[in-house]
Amino acid sequence: MKKVMMLGSGELGKEVVIALKRLGCTVVACDSYERAPAMQVADSYEVFSMLDGEALQEAVGKHNPDIIVPEVESIRTDKLYEFEQLGIQITPSAKAANYTMNRKLIRDLAAKELGLRTAPYAYATNLNEFEKAVENIGLPCVVKPLMSSSGKGQSIVKDVSELNAAFSSAMQGSRGDLKEIIIEGFIDFHTEITLLTVTQDVGETLFCAPIGHRQERGDYQESWQPCPMNPDQLKEAQEMSRKVTSALGGSGIWGIEFFLTSEGIYFSELSPRPHDTGMVTLAGTQNFNEFELHARALLGLKIPEIEFRYPGVSAVVLAEKDGIPKYSGLKEAAGFPQSDIKIFGKPTTRPYRRMAISLAYDRTKTESLKELRARAVKIANKIKVH
Ligand SMILES: Nc1ncnc2c1ncn2[C@@H]1O[C@H](COP(=O)(O)OP(=O)(O)OP(=O)(O)O)[C@@H](O)[C@H]1O
Ligand SMILES: [Mg+2]
Repeated sequence: MKKVMMLGSGELGKEVVIALKRLGCTVVACDSYERAPAMQVADSYEVFSMLDGEALQEAVGKHNPDIIVPEVESIRTDKLYEFEQLGIQITPSAKAANYTMNRKLIRDLAAKELGLRTAPYAYATNLNEFEKAVENIGLPCVVKPLMSSSGKGQSIVKDVSELNAAFSSAMQGSRGDLKEIIIEGFIDFHTEITLLTVTQDVGETLFCAPIGHRQERGDYQESWQPCPMNPDQLKEAQEMSRKVTSALGGSGIWGIEFFLTSEGIYFSELSPRPHDTGMVTLAGTQNFNEFELHARALLGLKIPEIEFRYPGVSAVVLAEKDGIPKYSGLKEAAGFPQSDIKIFGKPTTRPYRRMAISLAYDRTKTESLKELRARAVKIANKIKVH
């Protein structure tokens, strides 16, 4: 029986734990707060900051896991290289976790080493460098801290008058001690997708049907699978995904983000773990959902094929303010055919915190994407978080 340690215990980790336990694993769930979703379904748990190298070392020493599964970006990832050297399996690899924690490493790998098409970009550590970078890239542009997620510290600059504000917001939104930002040319995409990619040491690299999504304030609001797209562009996205995952190495699922335009596709970023937009697979859109795929791949259990079954949509339920959650409207939400709701079980709320999702699917393949999206949003709106 394998012992697995989850670093991060949110809603995505919770589903990974369920999948791992169904494959006979013992799981320790770790996060910085008590009663996190994945802790509720794991065998044991630890509470500490995963950016604290000593605390991480102590937890690993105490539990002696065979496998470590990062669920979030903010981890002292240099420690993961040490654990990997000691023979602990890191999912998918210490390199993948380390490179994707910092936008610079992954962007330079993708654009410079692998030659993937990305938005034009530059880095800056002070206002002077920032202004030069913007001059080169042109407006509009997107400004982001090198280390951040969920759109934190990110803004779009359309006019030079907004430069100072964008600079300070990106500097303040930086996670950890790294005060550096990236400036990207704004890509006027018509669609953005996540291509879930599975790498396995016991089989070939597999791709899920592309997932389309809509983002607001840096977080996804709805995701749908399959996302209609040009077959040549899909092939290109698969090739880019194959390249970048093999450069980073290891077995597991990867959420690879692309922007689609009529002139071509752009690699945007990647997470070496289940992706939030991939929660749509909980609607039964595939033979294995993204969490089951991750669990199988990291345990070295072969996934012979990924079978797409029918279209699905997920829509988020957000909290409005700080507090302890109470839910209402479940009866109304439950009344819709071909749909489902998943409450994550987070112990507290804060403005815009994602607390649950609704799922809508179409087994008979007779509904339009528009209808399916409307149903998912309608169900999500029935659920109120107080
Ligand atoms: N160069 C760009 N051009 C146009 N839109 C962009 C660009 N970069 C980012 N965006 C928009 O901002 C969103 C968030 O950007 P990105 O994925 O880089 O940030 P993030 O903080 O890592 O988000 P997350 O961790 O939630 O995926 C993208 O999904 C896209 O909608
Ligand atoms: Mg993203």
